[in-house]
Amino acid sequence: MGKTSKPDGGPRHVAIIMDGNGRWAQARGRPRLFGHHAGARRVREIVETCPDVGVDYLTIFAFSTENWKRTQAEVAGLMSLFRRYIFKEMQDFVRQNVRVRFIGDRVKLDAKLRNLMDEAEALTAHCTGTNLTIALNYGGRDEVARATKRLAEDVAAGRLKPENVDEETLPRYLDTYVLPDPDLVIRTSGEARISNFLLWQSAYAEYEFIDTLWPDFTSEEFTRLVGAYGGRERRFGAVPA
Ligand code: IPE
Ligand code: IPE
Ligand code: MG
Repeated sequence: MGKTSKPDGGPRHVAIIMDGNGRWAQARGRPRLFGHHAGARRVREIVETCPDVGVDYLTIFAFSTENWKRTQAEVAGLMSLFRRYIFKEMQDFVRQNVRVRFIGDRVKLDAKLRNLMDEAEALTAHCTGTNLTIALNYGGRDEVARATKRLAEDVAAGRLKPENVDEETLPRYLDTYVLPDPDLVIRTSGEARISNFLLWQSAYAEYEFIDTLWPDFTSEEFTRLVGAYGGRERRFGAVPA
């Protein structure tokens, strides 16, 4: 955790808030789900680009704990898209040596989807290439609340002393405990907000807010943003030497 940039100065972990599917569809006079399908098709190219640009960890925001507020039809369409996507891509991830993980609260997802998520994680557990993490029913506040609950259980059971709780302890209870913190967070679609994504983990991340709608996001743009990151100076609160 903390500073994780690569020796060449590039970001080791890039996280993306894939936003703008609905507006992309609307601009074409099509239903929102048309945009979600187009958006899902963009993921593969970005995953494939990671090894070329030195990104070891890619984390993508697919569905937030707040997205349940959408119409029942859109939510059901998204859940069905996730099932189909995971089923279809699983074997390709193995072929591409991509290790898949999911973060978020699985309890609220349907059993069929949960099984596919478990299967994809198990099938790719031996993969040593890009670490792809899909945030599904993920919310930063929800994650911290769930982590705190488990931490409190450990304290109550005598497994953890309150005086030993510090900023190294808490992240061990987060869904992301095996991942380094993101170095670069990209949000598409022109919105300059975090929308509850990786709140704890992004404390010192660099941000890129770009106007491109997610279904139009290309490997060229990804490569450009990853390259631009190398030129930035991250200070982590210190005064530069
Ligand atoms: C992002 O696109 C995908 C999800 C949140 C599931 P949106 O659906 O938020 O698209 P806009 O923001 O309405 O254009
Ligand atoms: C954030 O986008 C969540 C995902 C990309 C999955 P939203 O479109 O849900 O965020 P808000 O509502 O604009 O903040
Ligand atoms: Mg949106």
